[in-house]
Amino acid sequence: MSHTPPKAPSANMMWGGRFANGPDAIMQAINASIGFDRRLSAQDIRGSRAHAAMLAATGILTNKDAEAIGEGLLTVLSEIERGSFPFRVEFEDIHLNVEARLKELVGEPAGRLHTARSRNDQVAVDFRLWVRDQCDAAVTGIEALMRAFLAQAEAGADWVMPGFTHLQTAQPVTWGHHMMAYVEMLSRDRSRFADARARMNECPLGAAALAGTSFPIDRQMTAAALGFDRPTANSLDSVSDRDFALEFLSASAICAMHLSRFAEELVIWSSAQFRFVVLSDRWTTGSSIMPQKKNPDAAELLRAKLGRILGATVALFTVMKGLPLTYSKDMQEDKEQVFDAADTLMLGLAAMTGMVGDMTANRASLAAAAASGFSTATDLADWLVRTLNLPFREAHHVTGTLVARAEALRCDLPDLTLAQMQAVHPGITDAVFAVLGVENSVRSRTSYGGTAPDQVRAQINRWKDLLP
Ligand code: ARG
Repeated sequence: MSHTPPKAPSANMMWGGRFANGPDAIMQAINASIGFDRRLSAQDIRGSRAHAAMLAATGILTNKDAEAIGEGLLTVLSEIERGSFPFRVEFEDIHLNVEARLKELVGEPAGRLHTARSRNDQVAVDFRLWVRDQCDAAVTGIEALMRAFLAQAEAGADWVMPGFTHLQTAQPVTWGHHMMAYVEMLSRDRSRFADARARMNECPLGAAALAGTSFPIDRQMTAAALGFDRPTANSLDSVSDRDFALEFLSASAICAMHLSRFAEELVIWSSAQFRFVVLSDRWTTGSSIMPQKKNPDAAELLRAKLGRILGATVALFTVMKGLPLTYSKDMQEDKEQVFDAADTLMLGLAAMTGMVGDMTANRASLAAAAASGFSTATDLADWLVRTLNLPFREAHHVTGTLVARAEALRCDLPDLTLAQMQAVHPGITDAVFAVLGVENSVRSRTSYGGTAPDQVRAQINRWKDLLP
């Protein structure tokens, strides 16, 4: 469709009644949000169509006008989707751009669309619709990553590896158990987005500028048409609330923090010193000068991305802090932060899903590392308690002495002879060697949620049933 855009008006055609002059060019630059809020186009048109239909149903608009508006808005939407829509900075934001174009397309009825509405409730509903979709997208992305961890866990449910505290070898655990720890973390992320979505699912449309309206609108109708559970109950709160954006950002930050932690493990694990995993070529880069290198760039970037998301979170909290009720233009600063955080999170989830799916755990390296570093010292202490009825503190001391012996002899605990052990505690018998093996160690951790392969498999099966 061809058209001639109108000359920029000297005073704004939407609100210029009391203005003799248009804005300074720099004012336009700081004031306009169309450069970024065009991402709300589809939501804006959806909200306006619901509003127009309601205005007709309540007799505030004629059916004829409402139909012209509804049809015109669909034309606008198709122009936007085709990329032919003339976004104009002089119309400030997406709301005024859509309305101005509608006026060009359908004429006089376009001016009636804004009855019983303000940009304040309009932007609140548009942005909620957008953030609500992002919550759904985040849930889907998280579930894909959970499935990738689940597949890794299933492949190596009983592979032994060192478990760490303070990044020091602590006790042997299983690969499956370590992978399933991330499934738990991600499941909390998933429920945070689902909770936030349920809480934000109230419709602010109809709050108008701040006080409600004297027109006999039907807010239940617009709420239902837009998929909300109910209308918001306080018009002042409706136009000044950005909790839904803050909750989305907070949930995103926690999720990105989880991605960052696994990213760090991948950086460590893929190093030549560890060799716990091999990352696929699809998620690594080479060095232009050191031919041996395979750098875990994707993991490093994922380790860093939380910085952006947390930055956006802090930025919006800072914008909202101390704002008096109700709407203030400060709040226009909400969108870029949320857009960037959402894009970053979705990219991060996709990259991590790919990386986890493609990585190969090195079972032999994991097993070798599991057996080193006196990882079964706790098993030895527990054996002394169980078999010789020593108080745990004494058993701890005896074990510590044995570790020091082994360290001095440059060997591991199972390499000590029975005589060397009995020199430290005469009650020790041959049977002790059974608990010093890492396989036995992990098999013995059968408490609920423990690292024993049977426990791990039970959790894997539980999640296979729970995940879509
Ligand atoms: N572009 C504005 C925003 O994003 C829309 C609301 C403007 N409302 C107003 N009264 N100026 O916040």
